[in-house]
Amino acid sequence: MSFLTPKEIVSELDKYIIGQDKAKRTVAVALRNRYRRSKLDEEMREEITPKNIIMIGPTGVGKTEIARRISRLMDAPFLKVEATKFTEVGYVGRDVESMIRDLVEAAIRMVKQKRYETVKERAAQNAEDRLVDMLVPNKKSRQQQNPLGALFGMGQQIESAPAETDEEKQKRMTRREETIKNLKEGRLEHLVIEIEVEVNAGSSIEIPGMGGESMGDLLSGILPTKTKKRKVSVAEARKILEQEEAEKLIDMDEVTQTAIETAEQNGIIFLDEIDKIAGKTMGSGPDISREGVQRDILPIVEGSTVMTKYGPVKTDYMLFIAAGAFHVAKVSDLIPELQGRFPIKVELETLGRKEFELILTQPKNAITKQYEALLAADGVNIRFTEGALKKVAEIAQIVNESTENIGARRLQTIMENLLEDIFFNANGIEPPVEVTIDEAYVTEHLKKEEQYQNLQKFIL
Ligand SMILES: Nc1ncnc2c1ncn2[C@@H]1O[C@H](COP(=O)(O)OP(=O)(O)OP(=O)(O)O)[C@@H](O)[C@H]1O
Ligand SMILES: [Mg+2]
Repeated sequence: MSFLTPKEIVSELDKYIIGQDKAKRTVAVALRNRYRRSKLDEEMREEITPKNIIMIGPTGVGKTEIARRISRLMDAPFLKVEATKFTEVGYVGRDVESMIRDLVEAAIRMVKQKRYETVKERAAQNAEDRLVDMLVPNKKSRQQQNPLGALFGMGQQIESAPAETDEEKQKRMTRREETIKNLKEGRLEHLVIEIEVEVNAGSSIEIPGMGGESMGDLLSGILPTKTKKRKVSVAEARKILEQEEAEKLIDMDEVTQTAIETAEQNGIIFLDEIDKIAGKTMGSGPDISREGVQRDILPIVEGSTVMTKYGPVKTDYMLFIAAGAFHVAKVSDLIPELQGRFPIKVELETLGRKEFELILTQPKNAITKQYEALLAADGVNIRFTEGALKKVAEIAQIVNESTENIGARRLQTIMENLLEDIFFNANGIEPPVEVTIDEAYVTEHLKKEEQYQNLQKFIL
């Protein structure tokens, strides 16, 4: 569970998302309340169910971005899923319960990763031991590999095999020591050796109607694991062996148990595009009803038990955050029961020129930084003047207002157009150049846009 305070969560979000303070605060409080609840005694804890949130706001203002960022902040199983992915139970497609199964998978990966951290060193040591055995077989494994040995009874000591003399043994030990040293110092990394790797056949075959269980999962207990000999470098072999050794050291039953518990208690599901399932029927699809999907979601959000291949999983304490633009459908178009399951409604604001200016440069991954880095790779060092950025922000706002408001996504289209020439001409052959993009450059290159003569180009 994350120990970040609401303020810390907000300041992490601030690194990527401009404005939307209310949404950030609301989400931060809900997340912190998970932690607060986890501190209570069981009786009290049972009583407190999360207050689900619905984020409403026009397109391109940061709803999905908030979800993306919190998923990286939280030390809790997190799943982001588009409501439009689901079809009503009984129809071909993903049923809503699959989100719980996916959340459990995410929890298992998370817990397994943590366990992996604790066994990593031992696994590395074991893997190295095995590598040494492969490079300098010890007496026993050499006889097992002896085909004659196999013929006479599975690598048993054979009378005729000459015993190792003390001198031979001494030599072998010295070679082992040297090999260990060479391995440690990375001198053998490129050496090619043959190792046996497990191949799990058919693990990706999905059986329809089996709730996402794959053929491989079902058969893995029945079929013997197949192995295959592969030639790989020592570096690669080490990775494979470390993986194998780690798997041996991790108690998967414990991982599953813990994962289910943490998914139940701390799991967060972000239901994006929820507005797309409002209203009665799906516009284009066949007879899949949106309302049906909403009805299916209802018990999950309310609290029910979903069967997964790891066992039953309770959804009562999971936190659901829904988001949608709701520019066609309204929140009131959702079935009332579902609306009721999201008691906290938070609206995101429309972004304007001031925000755009900040979005261009302030976020850690700001698009101007991205473009600068991309072009620098070809020896073109671009620099934006403040005036240029102001102009871009202004044009973005104007185009949004006069055509379709696509929020911050507009900045991407505009920047692409602005830098098109440079992107096309940079080739990395000519000596590095500096290009300053000032207001005049913007005006010149976005002339058409500013005069709204070519607005079509911007309509996505
Ligand atoms: N407030 C913001 N601060 C910084 N970047 C933003 C902000 N809002 C949107 N962006 C950027 O704009 C793009 C689209 O944002 P996002 O995916 O969050 O839109 P959305 O609100 O989920 O819209 P939709 O309803 O269409 O799904 C992303 O690249 C995001 O980084
Ligand atoms: Mg979105």
